[in-house]
Amino acid sequence: MRHLLGISAYYHDSAAALLRDGEILAAAQEERFTRRKNDDRFPVHAARYCLAEAGIQADQLDGVVFYDKPIPKFARFLETCVGVAPQGLTTFLRFTPAWLSSKLNVKAEIREELGGMAESVPVLFTEHHQAHAASAFFPSPFPSAAILTVDGVGEYATTTIGKGNGSRLEMIQEQRFPHSLGLLYSAFTAYCGFRVNSGEYKLMGLAPYGKPTYLESIRSQLIDLRDDGSFRLNLDYFDFLRGFRMTNARFDQLFGGSPRRPDQRIEARHADLARSIQELTEEVMLRLAREAHRVTGEDRLCMAGGVALNCVANGRIQREGPFREIWIQPAAGDAGGALGAALAVWHGKGGIRNPSRSGDTMRGALLGPEFGDVAVEKALREHGAIFERVTDEEVDRRVVEWLAREKVIGWFQGRMEFGPRALGSRSILGDPRSVRMQSQMNLRVKFRESFRPFAPAVLREQVADLFDLSVDSPYMLLVAPVLERHRITGPDGAAPGSESGEDLVERVNRPRSTLPAITHVDWSARIQTVSAEHHPRFERLLRRWYEVTGCPALVNTSFNVRGEPIVCTPDDAYRCFVNSEMDHLVIGNHVLDRAAQPHRPVQQFDRDQD
Ligand SMILES: [Fe+2]
Repeated sequence: MRHLLGISAYYHDSAAALLRDGEILAAAQEERFTRRKNDDRFPVHAARYCLAEAGIQADQLDGVVFYDKPIPKFARFLETCVGVAPQGLTTFLRFTPAWLSSKLNVKAEIREELGGMAESVPVLFTEHHQAHAASAFFPSPFPSAAILTVDGVGEYATTTIGKGNGSRLEMIQEQRFPHSLGLLYSAFTAYCGFRVNSGEYKLMGLAPYGKPTYLESIRSQLIDLRDDGSFRLNLDYFDFLRGFRMTNARFDQLFGGSPRRPDQRIEARHADLARSIQELTEEVMLRLAREAHRVTGEDRLCMAGGVALNCVANGRIQREGPFREIWIQPAAGDAGGALGAALAVWHGKGGIRNPSRSGDTMRGALLGPEFGDVAVEKALREHGAIFERVTDEEVDRRVVEWLAREKVIGWFQGRMEFGPRALGSRSILGDPRSVRMQSQMNLRVKFRESFRPFAPAVLREQVADLFDLSVDSPYMLLVAPVLERHRITGPDGAAPGSESGEDLVERVNRPRSTLPAITHVDWSARIQTVSAEHHPRFERLLRRWYEVTGCPALVNTSFNVRGEPIVCTPDDAYRCFVNSEMDHLVIGNHVLDRAAQPHRPVQQFDRDQD
């Protein structure tokens, strides 16, 4: 099977990925093309992009693979409706038409969306967690490994432990719906007023402000957790079986009141809830990791599924878990299922795997579209933009100089990232040493007030000079503490801003280290390590910055404004640049100064607690 197209769609964050002879050629999320955040529609634009990248038509594919099995999923849905009758009937009537019109008709829909693709191209299906497991293991650098997948729910499975060896993938254990760590975390996300399926990061970022005061209530009332990491949820407290709300009145009573509405203030109680559910999640993940180690006998671990994006839990598995090494799929959520589905079929049909000790096969997750000089200049001219084209060295020289003067830079280079994080191709950069960078970037560029610090991108060789981390974290999926010698300590010995009482945004803006823009209130940081091998262009800039300033890290946040997907094209980048207050934009070797642009609309600042 030479060319295989993987598809994930219809639930959250649709995506397409293309393999040629088992090699990952292209992968992208649909939201980047349609500009609709977490777009869950059929990824027709992403699929077209993947085909164009390979230079083929849909009829030249050797197969299309969908990332889960619609029939078992529908059966689970029906069983759930029947299980909670009579309330389930409402859910059934509300959602069944959608199931019947597209979700169950995936085969026909795929053919139609791909431009009437011929019947000779087979449409195949994997199981949801098989796709996650394949996305975790096959691109990893390990010849064999334990595999842990944890998410909300696929067909039935919510957590699986498996083992990968060469081209073989074996699923060993699974935990089933409705007993789901992903859904439990999402229930707290919703209860604390954040959006399910995208607000989980915010809940994780809120946790260091709180105390684990609810941990015992969660343990005694909500979950029966066993030593091996398996558990049962007490369904008396949840409403997700009925499909309308995650939690119910009993849950409200246990945790001291009604759910927070998104426009309401974040109170100490919400931070305490965030901390409590975060600690429980870490405990479950550590137990699951130990169990995966025990049943597989492997000393390396691969992870995927939405919960594998919980980089605080990942950091603890890395530091405390029984594994020698871990590797996490950067598109660990359902977008990565598109890639996993194609990889599962390719290897299932006898494809040979050649893991490389020098790294994974994700190409630094730089798997999306790129734009040459002609396309960049055309887009800029259409906007009447004022720009200069300069050499590589001059780009670096200018950017370093601007950054040192506390300027904020839109940095657009090469292929777009696959997965939720910007990794130095579609990024906004700033100086992490600056005490005003955190609030400047939030208010002037992102149009939000955030209680979370930004993430640092740091030279791989220098990471241990700043953080308690000595391994690769190329995809910003590990959280580790800032080293003691760089910390600023309050009079009580704790981190400034860690005490409760004040406004969260005020608290996060208090300097806690020599890198205030990237240090959280517990002195932790969400780290991206940058190496020349994974990301040569970004590495060169960082190295130059290090040579000039002695600081090996930059603030790296995604190139977008609040509520929008990360930019994809030079056109998106220019629009975002002029609609925000970034000081400079760099697209390839084209440099732009905000003050010189003819068109600078002013966008209203929207006060929002993130
Ligand atoms: Fe999933």
